Amino acid sequence: MPMYSRRAALTAAAVLALTACAGDPVPSASPSPSGSPSPSPSPSPSASPAPSPSPSPSPSPSPSPTPTETTAPPAEYDIDSGASLQVIVNKRRPLQPPDYAPQLVAVSIAQDGDELVRPEVDAALVALDQAQRAAIGEGVFVFSSYRSYATQSSIYQGFVNQYGQAEADTTSARPGHSEHQTGLAVDVVGTSGVARLNVAFSTTPSGQWLAANAWQHGFVVRYPNGLEGITGYEYEPWHLRFVGVELATAMTQSGAQTLEEHLGLPAAPNYG
Ligand code: DAL
Ligand code: ZN
Repeated sequence: MPMYSRRAALTAAAVLALTACAGDPVPSASPSPSGSPSPSPSPSPSASPAPSPSPSPSPSPSPSPTPTETTAPPAEYDIDSGASLQVIVNKRRPLQPPDYAPQLVAVSIAQDGDELVRPEVDAALVALDQAQRAAIGEGVFVFSSYRSYATQSSIYQGFVNQYGQAEADTTSARPGHSEHQTGLAVDVVGTSGVARLNVAFSTTPSGQWLAANAWQHGFVVRYPNGLEGITGYEYEPWHLRFVGVELATAMTQSGAQTLEEHLGLPAAPNYG
């Protein structure tokens, strides 16, 4: 069975069975040795540092970047505190404290309601949606956002029960290790709803526009194609992490595809 339909089927079943808040995708069933089965457009961030919406209406990623600051040290950020907009959470960096809970507001562009994020993130999402609508005539929906420690625990355990821990770990974070618990991560789809929770989202107009332009509003595609050896997770073109315009812009200009690489942090392929 092709990857997309298998994943979509698994996803639908898992979402219904495992969580009422959509959660992240189920483990990929792809036998691809690369773990990157999708025809990824490989986000090619624009070299423009302007934090304004792209003047290009093209849904395609911007031309290849011209790295300008690959050797420049990143600005100083608080990457340790759960409350920091630049907190780095991965398999080697649990949230501190593990049950951290942020201040939250309702997501203005939620697909089904009942989505929560940090206030700074909602403001950025509204701007992102407006910019995408202006550029390609389709907006952005958020279908998963903040998850408490308990919710993430339930989602993760559901995946483990259904697929085993090894496979669960390629796509679902253990509680205390999920960016969703920070209130800074969202899972998105175009307002058309096409390819929700599917790697094929990367080939849709929304997926391509976001890959090329989300940084202008402070978001990065956190789990790029083929870099699970660094991030610990398979490709998730729908998972955006808000880090603020400054850091997102710097990372884009540097050419780094992951926060770990940009900030000089160790890779986090597993829990060590
Ligand atoms: N799918 C991401 C890694 C999460 O569960 O937070
Ligand atoms: Zn996510």
